[in-house]
Amino acid sequence: IASQLATDLAATVRSIPDYPKPGIIFRDITTLLGNPRAFRRAVDELVQPWAGSKIDKVAGIEARGFILGGAVAHQASAGFIPIRKKGKLPHATVRIAYSLEYGLDEMEMHEDAVTAGERVVLVDDLIATGGTAVAATKLLKQCGAEVVAAVFVIDLPDLGGADKLRALGTPVHTLMSFA
Ligand code: PRP
Ligand code: ADE
Repeated sequence: IASQLATDLAATVRSIPDYPKPGIIFRDITTLLGNPRAFRRAVDELVQPWAGSKIDKVAGIEARGFILGGAVAHQASAGFIPIRKKGKLPHATVRIAYSLEYGLDEMEMHEDAVTAGERVVLVDDLIATGGTAVAATKLLKQCGAEVVAAVFVIDLPDLGGADKLRALGTPVHTLMSFA
């Protein structure tokens, strides 16, 4: 992504100090999503790094990863897999506990959401510690998926999540960083 574009897109993200906990600067993408040009541009840039490779499905992480992931899946003519917070999916699931920058949670995916060998791109709005994305990648791989790439609008590089995910063998692409 060109640096001018990254700067322009970053200007549409709102930063909220001390949310949801003291000491956290919350990077709020609702302002990016509400800007028609920024939303389209962000989706286009999330697809671009892997646009040449055939993928079967996009997996999005609840809740903000659903908004971006649905648009990315449509753009790529791929299927969509919802990875949800525990207790929300009606059919048989695989489940994993994980930690993130400001808490602990559990996520689930339908066990038949991917079939062995399917090529999947993971989408979320932001990677911080990587706890969420690493857990999602584990669920996908456990069900036989090949995770071709993981893409995020925002990287918080000081928290090390993108490096951690790369070290586990998943190519990671992000559109902007906040230190
Ligand atoms: C946020 C964000 C990522 C995750 C990143 O989700 O959307 O999914 O945190 O943090 P990490 O890299 O430290 O794991 P959150 O759990 O707040 O859920 P939400 O989208 O429902 O607000
Ligand atoms: N998820 C984890 N850390 C976050 C942050 N600082 N802003 C928004 N979402 C987050």
